[in-house]
Amino acid sequence: HDPAAKDPAAPSAGNAGRADIGARTLRRDRWWLPPLVNALGLMTFVVYATIRSFWGSAYYVPEYHYLSPFYSPCFSASCVPGASHFGTFLPEFPPWIPLAVLSLPFLLGFRLTCYYYRKSYYRAFWASPPACAVSEPHSKYTGETRFPLILQNAHRYFFYVAVLISVINTYDMVVAFQSDAPDGSARFGLGLGNLILLVNVIGLWLYTASCHSCRHVTGGRLKHFSRHPVRYKVWTVVSRLNTRHMLFAWITIGTLILTDLYIMLVASGTISDLRIVN
Ligand code: FES
Repeated sequence: HDPAAKDPAAPSAGNAGRADIGARTLRRDRWWLPPLVNALGLMTFVVYATIRSFWGSAYYVPEYHYLSPFYSPCFSASCVPGASHFGTFLPEFPPWIPLAVLSLPFLLGFRLTCYYYRKSYYRAFWASPPACAVSEPHSKYTGETRFPLILQNAHRYFFYVAVLISVINTYDMVVAFQSDAPDGSARFGLGLGNLILLVNVIGLWLYTASCHSCRHVTGGRLKHFSRHPVRYKVWTVVSRLNTRHMLFAWITIGTLILTDLYIMLVASGTISDLRIVN
């Protein structure tokens, strides 16, 4: 060992904090695969959600009260009869305004600023960095300390709105257990659509409750857990869920698409709902 030889891991003067290694990475595994899969998954969701949000039809099944999560809550006078569970205090919309215009920006903001999705799209689209131990192509790194990325701090506020929207989605799911009898009265009904809506709502709650901001809201800034046994208990549960946040982030992408797709197919008459109890 030559003590005068340069330590390859030592920071060099021109590139403070970075290892002075010529190769972009020394990794030999397929490190590019996860960012590629993430990019494809996220793009699929963004394209699907955008098309469906602007679609403007086949989002509600009046017989079974199935409402797509992409159209909830529906406050516009343009919403099909029955789809507005909380009234229509907004006027008719032109076709280029999504009917759920009040909730979609918040849902988008919540997912876009999510700690997990940030990791995912920083790697998949910004390559900043593309993977562990793979250097990024950008010469400068300012993290989230400046505009526009400093806005990621708004995540905690989006969290509160997301909780409210999850409550609304839960209400939509419960209402759908009522179907219309032939004489026009309401009765209990159960179909495959109900089960899909239920699974989606469970997924949404798991995703929302496992949020890092939720963990902070429930157990953050406490000096003595022993003096706050309830918050400690809740924080313990949230912390356990939090370790699976990435999983819930992907599951809910899948269940949101599945729920909307199923309702679209039933509402458009392409398939009929598989009824278990009529
Ligand atoms: Fe992902 Fe809050 S960290 S939703």
